[in-house]
Amino acid sequence: MPYDYESDAANIKENLNCLHIGSDIVFLPEIDSTNNLAKEYAKNNAQEGLVVIAESQTGGRGRMGRVWHSPPETGIYLSILLKPNLKPDHLSFITLLAGVSTISTINEISRQRANLKWPNDILINDKKVCGLLCEMTQEQGNSFSVVIGIGINVNQVPEQFPEDLKKTATSLRIVNGSPINRLTMIRSLLTTLDREYHFFLAEGGHSVIKKWKLNTDLFGKKVSVKRGSIIITGTAMNLDESGRLVLRQDNGHDEVLDSGEITRYG
Ligand code: BTN
Repeated sequence: MPYDYESDAANIKENLNCLHIGSDIVFLPEIDSTNNLAKEYAKNNAQEGLVVIAESQTGGRGRMGRVWHSPPETGIYLSILLKPNLKPDHLSFITLLAGVSTISTINEISRQRANLKWPNDILINDKKVCGLLCEMTQEQGNSFSVVIGIGINVNQVPEQFPEDLKKTATSLRIVNGSPINRLTMIRSLLTTLDREYHFFLAEGGHSVIKKWKLNTDLFGKKVSVKRGSIIITGTAMNLDESGRLVLRQDNGHDEVLDSGEITRYG
């Protein structure tokens, strides 16, 4: 079912009981990228909590310069603007927090348990159901904003994925065998994210890392991590207190990684 933009935006806003998120909701039939628009709003001093939702994206972006396939009436494509008063090197907690909140919402709906893949993919049955793209912008006066972009494969049937994604992507509809109401899911996602963000501002990142670790099956697995042209292989051991991946190489040396692209091979 397509969204009904005006009434859906009003509906989300009226029914959200959030402290930070949903100060404004922009709901559009089509946009190049919800992250791009949220960043534009940030430059123009938009308030924290702005949410941009689109039915489809013509230039949906993923990590590492990839495209996020964003056709109408199937997926959720949204971006949230946050302005935590943090040093830039603490902003990686926001990425992990977004992953923890989104997987919790997905697990409320999914008949099969989802897993986080560091740093911020969500998989079910080893296939990708959701990707997160967190981007930082710096405004005048040196304050930082973070845009959390979330793309969820909700109601796609297998034929609707492009050929190159058919083997690696799944949707909640494929997993559950029945379609999902995207609006209800968006409300639940924003509510969970708001609660986790509020808790993080009060308590710090410790519990974010703890919750992230409870939602992954990565540790103890053989992985290779690609960083630019370098590939490091080893066993994924843990996340450190800053959310970086601890990778034990075959020579016993622990490498701590703050970014990269993981592939599992064991
Ligand atoms: C990835 O898996 O590489 C991240 C994908 C992020 C996609 C979302 S869809 C909403 C927001 N707008 C974008 O252009 N990208 C993010």
